[in-house]
Amino acid sequence: MSLRDNISQRLKESDIAFRADVLLSELTSYGIGGPADLLVLPDNPERMAKALRILADDGMPVFAIGRGTNILAADAGFRGALIRVQDRRFERIGDGRFDIGAAITLDEVVDALAKAGYVGAQGLAGIPGSLGGGIAMNAGAWGYSTGAIVNDVLAFGIDGYPVEIDLGEMFEYRWSKLRGNTVVSSATVVMLGRGDPEALFSQANEYRRRRATTQPLDRKSAGCIFKNPPHDHAGRLIDAAGLKGTSVGGASISDVHANFIVNLGGATAVDVLTLINIATEKVFNEFGIELEPEIIKLGFDR
Ligand code: EPU
Repeated sequence: MSLRDNISQRLKESDIAFRADVLLSELTSYGIGGPADLLVLPDNPERMAKALRILADDGMPVFAIGRGTNILAADAGFRGALIRVQDRRFERIGDGRFDIGAAITLDEVVDALAKAGYVGAQGLAGIPGSLGGGIAMNAGAWGYSTGAIVNDVLAFGIDGYPVEIDLGEMFEYRWSKLRGNTVVSSATVVMLGRGDPEALFSQANEYRRRRATTQPLDRKSAGCIFKNPPHDHAGRLIDAAGLKGTSVGGASISDVHANFIVNLGGATAVDVLTLINIATEKVFNEFGIELEPEIIKLGFDR
């Protein structure tokens, strides 16, 4: 029996949902990427822990894909298992305290907190990823960040055991210690201020509108490609280097926002990587600033 068949059998026996032979182009917002062996869909922490242990027993590589919104997946795909958490709980557990499943999108979190009349998440409106992914990379916008509203996280190491979380040292700009080797299952969000739900909805919608006018949301992308360097903006620098509209194959540096490389149709990961290299090199040559990617690359290190 092949490794994959053996794992599939054990997942079935443990009643853990999964799919075999999936395509990363269908699991990422970029619409780019080759096949992966398995997509595992645990719907609670017990099944997640069990699934991770089954995969670890057989040494199968694991990657937490979430909603796939910040990922550039290789054209050759990924030999391993993708995990997409299915926990969609949203439970009030105290005054301003909520226990939220990692599969709920940040956008849904914003609306649910606005409805409950709590201030502090509005700027996360329109961020396309899941809460789990948003925590792992500390997603944010307009001065708001996911890490700022999170008080506790239930996450598992790829060995299937819960990881110790020290919130004090967990989050940095577009980065958290959870990136890479853990899978987020759920989180406690704590909100301090109260506000009027109608006003909070309209603020959230204003942020969504701003995003829609400054970013190419009508195209497939992985959001911003590079982190902003200190005291500057990657988009401004790539724009100033004259690179808007530069295309390779089906990929193009967006005319709307230069820190987006959009898939105009049929783009490959190599097209995107070539544009990443062009932008990195030109910005370095013109301004002496080294841009660092924000997106997560999957399947390239073989
Ligand atoms: N700019 C240009 N040309 C461009 C794009 C931007 O000159 O093509 C200039 C703008 O005019 C503005 C400045 O650069 O003066 C900043 O632009 P913007 O307000 O769009 O913000 P940003 O720094 O480019 C960041 C986040 C976005 C987030 C927005 C809004 C990063 C890497 N990017 O973009 O996050 O939505 O602020 O808060 O931190 C993402 O992480 O995927 C993302 C898109």
